[in-house]
Amino acid sequence: MEIVISSSMDELNLKGAEYFEKLLAAKPDAVLGLATGSTPIGIYNELIMKYRAGRIDFSRAKAVNLDEYIGLSPDDSQSYANFMQQKLFSQINIQPGNCYIPNGTADDIDAECQRYDRVIASLGGIDIQLLGIGHDGHIGFNEPGHSFEKQTHSIELTKETIAANARFFESMEKVPKRAITMGIKAIMNAKSVLLVAFGADKCDIVYRALTGPITPSVPGSILQLHPNLTVLLDDSAGAKLR
Ligand code: F6R
Repeated sequence: MEIVISSSMDELNLKGAEYFEKLLAAKPDAVLGLATGSTPIGIYNELIMKYRAGRIDFSRAKAVNLDEYIGLSPDDSQSYANFMQQKLFSQINIQPGNCYIPNGTADDIDAECQRYDRVIASLGGIDIQLLGIGHDGHIGFNEPGHSFEKQTHSIELTKETIAANARFFESMEKVPKRAITMGIKAIMNAKSVLLVAFGADKCDIVYRALTGPITPSVPGSILQLHPNLTVLLDDSAGAKLR
């Protein structure tokens, strides 16, 4: 595990983007496992700048996202499909047909989960998986207390996660309570993992995930077993690891 702690967000976001740049230079059709939320936005901005500067070509890249809210269609402004369009895909030259995200409005959610696992398998697995971490230790929407063996599945979000997500919605009632998430299994099968966390509110959970017991009560703790894990932390999130 490589841990980078820096006081400079610019440096961390640039470093994050450089992993993608190097990977795509070596493997133009790489499979990029992407995340939503506030954490990756700075890295996405760097990727957009690198694309505009002619330093990254996404034309053959594939993108698989971690998760999607159940009940929100891709054109809902709060869906993760829409987030990815706004924050990254519409600003780079990735092919729309190469961008995959679970369908939160599928009639049969279990069948959709199985379909998503087949998509990931058909792409040959994930080359780099970008992850944020929730205050309860979730990665993707793998909430505490579930088996590490799960593939893509539907999940009831915890009260803590619903409260954290509420900042993007008009009211608490509008925050989706369920999601489809890639399982820990696919995340752990990724060839490399980039875990990113910013802010003092992530300090405890980052410490527990990276140094505590490996347990489903802290889903991110499984990452200690990943053979190629890089962690990017700002000073506040990394305070207990200094
Ligand atoms: C998002 C995701 C989540 C977030 C986590 C942290 O696709 O899978 O695990 O990474 O909830 O969210 P932020 O970055 O908003 O603190």
